[in-house]
Amino acid sequence: MKIAIDGPAGAGKSTVAQIVAARLGYIYIDTGAMYRALAWAVIRSGLPADDEEAVSRLLSQGTIELRRTEAGQGVLWKGRDITAQIRTPEVSNVSSIVASLGKVREQMLHLQRELARQGSVVMDGRDIGTHVLPDADVKIFLTASLEERAKRRVDELHAKGYDVEYETLLAELEERDRRDSERSVAPLRRAKDAHLVDTTGKSIEEVIDEILKICL
Ligand code: DC
Repeated sequence: MKIAIDGPAGAGKSTVAQIVAARLGYIYIDTGAMYRALAWAVIRSGLPADDEEAVSRLLSQGTIELRRTEAGQGVLWKGRDITAQIRTPEVSNVSSIVASLGKVREQMLHLQRELARQGSVVMDGRDIGTHVLPDADVKIFLTASLEERAKRRVDELHAKGYDVEYETLLAELEERDRRDSERSVAPLRRAKDAHLVDTTGKSIEEVIDEILKICL
């Protein structure tokens, strides 16, 4: 069984996908975390994020591992646990830039399909239903208003101790939405056969119930 959950930043994909996977006993694969791990490595190496050859080479020379931990999903780059470092606004912006590179997406596609072969999975991202798992058994397109998504991100970052302004984050989110939806390779799109779930004004539990009803 393969479940694909796509949608824009801040729609609640990882929170919801993680719980849905746990309830169904499936493996959870956060593909955004893979682009974030690469972005973290790019920032650390000092490479320009839009240098396709260099970023692609960096990815071939590294390894990305997703590991399930008590606290959620952990991410490792070349064996180093970088889970706590990949949710910063800087990594968010750079991940969206490296995700627009064709070669990088091609490499990620192979890695992600390999991970999906492990068994029943819930995979979340931007292009799962359209490109990575076009034959997924269930496809969900999760969305929410831009304002609500920005508010959720601000609350999330404040809880982690980051001092961010709502207006700044709203502008960054809008820019990331634009880049993710307008890129030429595998842009953020709702697959024709995806169920649209709008999470604006809904609790996490309500959204999970809605998705489980679609899956079962
Ligand atoms: O879901 P997220 O915010 O953690 O994703 C980080 C970035 O990675 C996002 O701006 C777009 C990109 N991404 C992508 O292009 N394709 C995916 N399948 C997952 C994420």
